[in-house]
Amino acid sequence: MPPLISVKGLCKSFGGLTAVVDVSFEIQAGEIIGLIGPNGAGKTTLFNCISGFTRPTSGRVEFAGRDITGWLPEEVCHLGLARTFQVVRTFPDMSVLDNVLIGAFARTVSRAEAERGAREVLELTGLASKAGLLGRNITIADKKRLELARALATHPRLLMLDEAMAGLNPAERQAAVELVRSIQAQGVTILMVEHVMQVIMPISKRVMVLNYGRKIAEGAPEIVAHDENVIAAYLGAKYRQQAPSLPGPAA
Ligand SMILES: Nc1ncnc2c1ncn2[C@@H]1O[C@H](COP(=O)(O)OP(=O)(O)OP(=O)(O)O)[C@@H](O)[C@H]1O
Ligand SMILES: [Mg+2]
Repeated sequence: MPPLISVKGLCKSFGGLTAVVDVSFEIQAGEIIGLIGPNGAGKTTLFNCISGFTRPTSGRVEFAGRDITGWLPEEVCHLGLARTFQVVRTFPDMSVLDNVLIGAFARTVSRAEAERGAREVLELTGLASKAGLLGRNITIADKKRLELARALATHPRLLMLDEAMAGLNPAERQAAVELVRSIQAQGVTILMVEHVMQVIMPISKRVMVLNYGRKIAEGAPEIVAHDENVIAAYLGAKYRQQAPSLPGPAA
């Protein structure tokens, strides 16, 4: 089966800084793929290039059989690719329901249909009881959920999550992991950036690692976790601090 998304030789430069360097990968429909790497490695820039928020300097993005390189975010969204933002973009003066309706209106011009879709997504994400609250009056955990709900309301085939679980406590994080699994069970493919290894390693079929804009490793979580380059570039201290439950690096 052809991949749902195929990224080929993607590069993004900001003046003298190359934030993404010749990154290529493919994701099959139905997979959950993790994207990890140190701060400033280029993860968010890669998301921005794929989802149309910034134009890649070179390279190609194919999604659902189309070359979407350089497309606008709304065009990419209509084709079925949605992303969340590392820094939440809640509209503070709109209700939780209206925040989600913005996503739902990507699929329909009917208010009734959009509201039906938005309420379904609020139910799924555990926000139904907060539909009437203003965006400014909900907790950070709920803002993270709302970000996810708005993306889901666009009915994506591929959902890209940029640190959707950052700032959550362990119980909230566990709930978020279960939510991601249930979204996948509905047929949505997921590419997720997270810094918490206990989240990303068990949930991902494959993990890709960026360092200084380059993909330095890709493979099954247990293989990547033992990769010397990955331990040196990223996992080192983090791995040892976080991971009593993870297998230790090979001696
Ligand atoms: N609009 C921009 N203009 C100039 N430099 C940028 C811009 N956006 C990102 N960068 C730089 O590109 C590099 C990659 O940043 P990016 O935000 O993609 O990293 P990241 O892997 O998402 O990091 P983090 O884990 O901290 O979120 C960094 O050096 C950053 O300063
Ligand atoms: Mg980032």
